Amino acid sequence: MDRMEVTETFAGMSLPGHLHTAESLRFASSFEFRDTDVVIATYPKSGTTWMQEILTLLYSQGNLLPAKTIPNWFRAPWLEHIYFKDTLQETSERRLITTHLPCHVLAPGLKKAKAKVIYIARNPKDVVVSFYHFHKFAKFLPDPGSFNDFLMRFLDGTVQYGSWFDHVKGWLSHQEELELFYITYEDLHQDLGRSVQRLAAWLGCPLPPEVLRAIEQHCSFSSMRENVMVNYTLIPSEIMDHSQGQFMRKGTVGDWRDHFTPMQTMLFHRLYQEEMQGTSLHFPWAMD
Ligand code: A3P
Repeated sequence: MDRMEVTETFAGMSLPGHLHTAESLRFASSFEFRDTDVVIATYPKSGTTWMQEILTLLYSQGNLLPAKTIPNWFRAPWLEHIYFKDTLQETSERRLITTHLPCHVLAPGLKKAKAKVIYIARNPKDVVVSFYHFHKFAKFLPDPGSFNDFLMRFLDGTVQYGSWFDHVKGWLSHQEELELFYITYEDLHQDLGRSVQRLAAWLGCPLPPEVLRAIEQHCSFSSMRENVMVNYTLIPSEIMDHSQGQFMRKGTVGDWRDHFTPMQTMLFHRLYQEEMQGTSLHFPWAMD
């Protein structure tokens, strides 16, 4: 099946032209946030969809109806995508908004409005593995080539959506200036209940035990994998070729170990050290 080769260049990175235009990116860059907005910010493959589902259930107070009847991209639209401008502008109640854009593009608008941001990071080695498999069936992304080729481009920061390092450092260096809640995919994986309790407390959202139970059940990997409103099987096969992979692929921590050679691990480790030295960021993963 042919790929859609169109690419949009923005803020020094390439983005899929199937989802972005110069106009949609201009709209996102000058977006007027509200203080009631809750924005999920991530580098791709870091747990975005998981957080969309958790927040849906938290705000519906455990009512499964929205999660089971409305696709996640309408519940928490992507700010920068072509398709959601009207949805975002027409929503008068509290908005859940999703973005993969870098912090420097959105920070002025977010600060001005005091909108809430939830930033999720994931071990970049698991991100690159997940992103590689995603490229295989997402026809709006370039052919990934071999895993080694893709990994080299990921380390160079020349994959679509740009450098993981820049994304994470950009957002997390603004923790003090923004209303920002930072959590990792690994935290969610290790203890979903505890993570949701922390999140609900930060958002000031009630979390009775039955709501927490509903979130724990409905936001498990096995449950989300079966939910067509969130597993992307509703997307036509010209855009996502479902014969080549699944969006809800493995949902594990440490899958990189089944993909990286010792040489790739060493290269990754070296660049990671270079990129992260001098920062005081803390992550729950080790590089080896
Ligand atoms: P894998 O490809 O490693 O399985 P995003 O939503 O940011 O694109 O991230 C997608 C990744 O999150 C995929 O990782 C997907 O399986 C994983 N994921 C989504 N929901 C999950 C859940 N409930 N539990 C664990 N992992 C989940």
